[in-house]
Amino acid sequence: MTVLSSVECRMGSCQEGAEAALLAWYRSHRRDLPWRHTRDPYRVWVSEIMLQQTQVATVLPRYQQWLTQFPTLPSLAAAGEEAVLKAWQGLGYYRRARLLYAAACRVMEQHDGQFPRSFEAIVALPGIGASTAGAIASACFDAPHPVVDANVKRVLRRWHNQPRATDRLLWRLAQQALERAGEPATWNQAMMELGACRCQARKTACHDCPLEPHCQSAHQPIAASTRRKPVRDLHWRIRIHHHPERGLWLTKRPDAAVWGGLWTPPIEPHAPATDEKPDLVHLLTHRRLHLYAKPSDAPPAGHGKWVAALESVALPTGIQRLLQQIGIS
Ligand code: ADE
Repeated sequence: MTVLSSVECRMGSCQEGAEAALLAWYRSHRRDLPWRHTRDPYRVWVSEIMLQQTQVATVLPRYQQWLTQFPTLPSLAAAGEEAVLKAWQGLGYYRRARLLYAAACRVMEQHDGQFPRSFEAIVALPGIGASTAGAIASACFDAPHPVVDANVKRVLRRWHNQPRATDRLLWRLAQQALERAGEPATWNQAMMELGACRCQARKTACHDCPLEPHCQSAHQPIAASTRRKPVRDLHWRIRIHHHPERGLWLTKRPDAAVWGGLWTPPIEPHAPATDEKPDLVHLLTHRRLHLYAKPSDAPPAGHGKWVAALESVALPTGIQRLLQQIGIS
């Protein structure tokens, strides 16, 4: 028997009808999104990975393009990592694309090309954590596993007025709510929808929220801890070795670095002179990159390759913009 903590008991007492209210709201307010029309685990998986750090509006066209280029999991595994990174270009957080490709290869090798059905086998794949595995297992196989992503955590914290809830408590609350609700596929989508549309990090719409009568922080000011993380400034010298026939010298970024796994001209940290202006300032989520192009006639050192057809490799958007700016592209 599960022993409920005092927090959970207090919460249970006011939850009568909360799940039904959220499910009813979701049925009448849900956005019509393409991954909600399929139970194909490959398609749901791709959507979940794209949505991890990218907004729905950006994902929509890219998701359709992706499925045109790689309509099935075997077609993704057959494409090769370079082609997969190239197709991801502009979406950022390229680690997601590398792991997507690695997981597709794993499914080919270990599961005969069939996406696994059990939560345990899904969560064992590269790049798939418990929340993403819950999203796939519930949406495709009706498995009773919750989604506990950043949106859902925020909803749970506010609903139960537990601003400092640990992940352990949040997972338990999520599991209990899902079990009270039944309908794991719909419930998980409804929680994500509420987080995206009514209970945003910096904007709440409590007057229009189905959980308002049940929510222990309805109409409260937004907690200061939801402020944006500060942006860090990085100054980088970008070595431009450009040859009229051989093209541009590119090196592969280390996996764990910014732009990990992508091809860029050699990058070094740079300490700019006080009056030195960057050729380009490029914003990432938590970093502001100041890029200083430094043309060089010296032969390039270290590992790399000459690339004449730049459109054939996955270049980060910041480097593409810099190259355009200096007239190489
Ligand atoms: N964010 C993560 N998963 C999502 C989904 N299935 N629908 C909308 N937004 C999401």
